[in-house]
Amino acid sequence: MRRLVSETTLEPRQLILPMFIREGAREPIAISSMPGVVQHTRDTARKAVAEAAQLGLGGVMLFGVPAEKDEVGSGAVDPDGILNVAIRDAVSEAGDDILVMADLCLDEFTSHGHCGVLDSSGRVDNDATLAIYAEMGVAQASAGAHVVGPSGMMDGQVGAIRTALDAAGHLDTVILAYAVKYASAFFGPFREAVDSSLEGDRNTYQQDPGNAREALREVDLDLAEGADLVMVKPALAYLDIIRQVRDHVDVPVAAYNISGEYAMVEAAAANGWIDRERAILETLTSIRRAGADTILTYWAPEAAHLLARR
Ligand code: PBG
Repeated sequence: MRRLVSETTLEPRQLILPMFIREGAREPIAISSMPGVVQHTRDTARKAVAEAAQLGLGGVMLFGVPAEKDEVGSGAVDPDGILNVAIRDAVSEAGDDILVMADLCLDEFTSHGHCGVLDSSGRVDNDATLAIYAEMGVAQASAGAHVVGPSGMMDGQVGAIRTALDAAGHLDTVILAYAVKYASAFFGPFREAVDSSLEGDRNTYQQDPGNAREALREVDLDLAEGADLVMVKPALAYLDIIRQVRDHVDVPVAAYNISGEYAMVEAAAANGWIDRERAILETLTSIRRAGADTILTYWAPEAAHLLARR
């Protein structure tokens, strides 16, 4: 009876697996604050993409961890930079069977760890960053990415990337805009995942956790600039925002079940304080119930296995 009348579906096709690929890695490197998640080598990333496709996941979201970082994040626009190489690997491995998505942001590539380049006074320079994002988007699309995911929260980023993609003839590239992104403590473990050197915070470009109306405004702006899908991030402390965004727009809504949300459940489960598998499915179901059409989650492959057993 519960299955017959269940209101909320959770299926592998609705899940997107975020993956980290580290330049020069000879074997996968564990991320201590995210037990079970690794920085992949190119080889293990290929295998993980093939497995994700096999499991029927909707997509993979790729992040690069470059060997060298610099002030302007040069590795991000270099066709041979680790992220662009990883996109090509993923597309050649399973690009017909799964969507290959790429995080479009500079923070993994900059020595200071900010999502954009800095001006002479050390502040993030919004408009100078847009030009680099545009170039980065074209590099990702040229590498074969089906979807680019601008996540840096610069004003005008979606428009700048859309214009550049169109001009370069990448008319079919989809933009999944990280439209609503809060300056959150729950991003903590991600810093280890990408070897971030960030000092300070992202308060000048990410949202204040107390603001909900602002989320709808961010979504409207991104859609007007040409976004195809919009994302809310983090997910769990923002389920109300997911619901409001879902009710506000008619495009698909994604939610990112982020690193700190993953780490909380894993840490409690490792202590025997909660039932891990139930907590995973309950977490993902709650995000779907709140209104997310698709969920980015580090548990995507495992959830697919759990769902197959249910
Ligand atoms: C920016 C980006 C971040 C995450 C995804 N894209 C970090 C940030 O904005 O601080 C976080 C993902 C997670 O915490 O799981 N490139």
